[in-house]
Amino acid sequence: HGAVRLALRQAHRRGDLATLATIDPASAPDPLKVYDDLRAAGPFVQGRLATVTASHPAAAALLRDDAFRAAGDLSKLPLPLRALARISYDPAASGPIDPPSLLAVNPPDHTRLRRLVSRVFTARAIDALRGEVERTAHHLLDVMAAEGTVDLVERYAAQLPVTVITTILGVPADMRAQFLRWGADAAATLDVGLPYADFQRVEAAQRAVNSWFAGHFAQLRRVPGDDILSRLVGLTGDGEQLTETELTATAQLLLAAGFETTVNLLGSGTLALLEHREQLESLRADPSRWPNAIEEILRVESPVALTTRVAGADTELLGVAMAARQLVVVMLAGANRDPAVFPNPHVLDVQRANARDHLAFSGGIHFCLGAALARLEGEIGLRLLFERFPDLALAGTPRRRPTRVLRGWETIPVHVGTSA
Ligand code: HEM
Repeated sequence: HGAVRLALRQAHRRGDLATLATIDPASAPDPLKVYDDLRAAGPFVQGRLATVTASHPAAAALLRDDAFRAAGDLSKLPLPLRALARISYDPAASGPIDPPSLLAVNPPDHTRLRRLVSRVFTARAIDALRGEVERTAHHLLDVMAAEGTVDLVERYAAQLPVTVITTILGVPADMRAQFLRWGADAAATLDVGLPYADFQRVEAAQRAVNSWFAGHFAQLRRVPGDDILSRLVGLTGDGEQLTETELTATAQLLLAAGFETTVNLLGSGTLALLEHREQLESLRADPSRWPNAIEEILRVESPVALTTRVAGADTELLGVAMAARQLVVVMLAGANRDPAVFPNPHVLDVQRANARDHLAFSGGIHFCLGAALARLEGEIGLRLLFERFPDLALAGTPRRRPTRVLRGWETIPVHVGTSA
């Protein structure tokens, strides 16, 4: 915590825009101005801690350039950054973004692991879930209808993704509440400057999750089910098998990525459409517009606001020299508001022709593996919510999550109105 305060004071003194954009808590709740300032300063803005981009062409080029790699093992970062990141030196406490999580590894490990995980997490398997997602959404909406005034995040936006992902992973329903608490803790560790007491709590929670999965895998080996984890555990053959640590990291990543992100799509999407009722009406009139509306919501309300890469060697991109081990912070949410690609970038337009060009799911080899599932949950979740509750209205002031990397809402009080 002290390290963050010191780095922050120095960045303010130097007017170091890139570092402020990365660690200043004041910029986290409303970063739009920061993105505009960064873009005005160039495609890549170099600071003491990191180089930052909020430009769409620069971000897209960097994510597809194999000279830039996943930061991977954070303990190998240059010192000032290492002091800012949450680093666990205990393998038993490793979490969903620590190696060998897909997000943290590089080729050839990434290529092998991603091929194996994609084998069970296929587009066809996801499409087959449509009925399951609809049933889950209807069930949650039935319960809300009986209550009248509810917190939409707690009762719906958070419940739909966690129910779907635990179902397809084959994680027992009675573990959901516990995983939601663990996920919230794990999400907080994505931001810099986690207080030490929280760090210790997260470590303890990580150890518990890791040991729960070890027991769960042992059971799946004895009695496999018809779920994704059973299929991952069941992969056999030379080079075709995941190690025990790869299995745990993958299960944790699928679980956490499965609900910590989509909750924000559903929450932000609900608010955006309540604020633009005329666009909601256009969707009611022509439901075939929903998929494009989901892309536009992902663009303006990008649930994962940023990611990072590290230069593997001295290199150059778009005329900017980058030294080996240079950390680059890619403001996905900033790229998605780049006026050079999206005219009137701050305006929600569910019919925007190039909405799908957003980088909310990243790009290159780490492109979101769950994008099809997220799109399915976003579309069904929002469509059914507004179909069932045509008079849905705010019942209080929504509160934003304070986190920088994951962007969304902590609470959204709503009156559900008459149910259709
Ligand atoms: C990767 C966003 C939902 C599974 C990513 C990345 C982003 C992202 C930005 C890449 C990060 C990087 O390049 O460093 C989102 C958003 C979602 C969402 C905005 C919802 C709206 C999901 C879901 C799942 C999922 C539902 C599935 C269970 C993954 C996995 C990766 C990933 C496994 C790692 C892929 C790799 O490194 O090769 N996601 N995601 N995501 N996502 Fe998602």
